[in-house]
Amino acid sequence: MIRVLFVCLGNICRSPMAEAVMRDIVKSEGLEKEIMVDSAGTGNWHIGNPPHEGTRSILEKQEIEYEGMKARQVIQDDLFDFDYIIAMDGENLGNLHRLAGYNKTGVIKRLLDYVPEAGQDDVPDPYFTGNFEEVYEMVKSGCENLLNTIKETHQL
Ligand code: 4NP
Repeated sequence: MIRVLFVCLGNICRSPMAEAVMRDIVKSEGLEKEIMVDSAGTGNWHIGNPPHEGTRSILEKQEIEYEGMKARQVIQDDLFDFDYIIAMDGENLGNLHRLAGYNKTGVIKRLLDYVPEAGQDDVPDPYFTGNFEEVYEMVKSGCENLLNTIKETHQL
């Protein structure tokens, strides 16, 4: 089983969107038994909350399921339990590296590392920009490319 964890700041906007989109693609490719998907936030403000209304409305429009998803905070064990820990921006990435210390962890990367053509490193935070559409497009490309990398790496 390959485990993928998406990480943002609040775990209510970007990373739950990525979790739901990735799970949807994984399911459509029949890989649910091979790949497990989760998400978490570096911050603790929204623990237990469902995804933000903006994220919910995009997922509903795309007919992607998100039922039962609740925000949680990333813990150090996640860095060892997950094979791919995918940050939404540089701030999340820095926090994950700090949490990791000098320990050997899963692969820690930014989502847009998988989308060089995006021409930027960070998925903008829609909690502040209000632009959930642009985030969805980036998340979709990122998840598709990440899944292709996983399939090639693990011969799925
Ligand atoms: P996210 O967005 O990291 O994409 O979930 C945010 C959600 C909440 C806050 C910041 C970012 N906040 O400051 O409460």
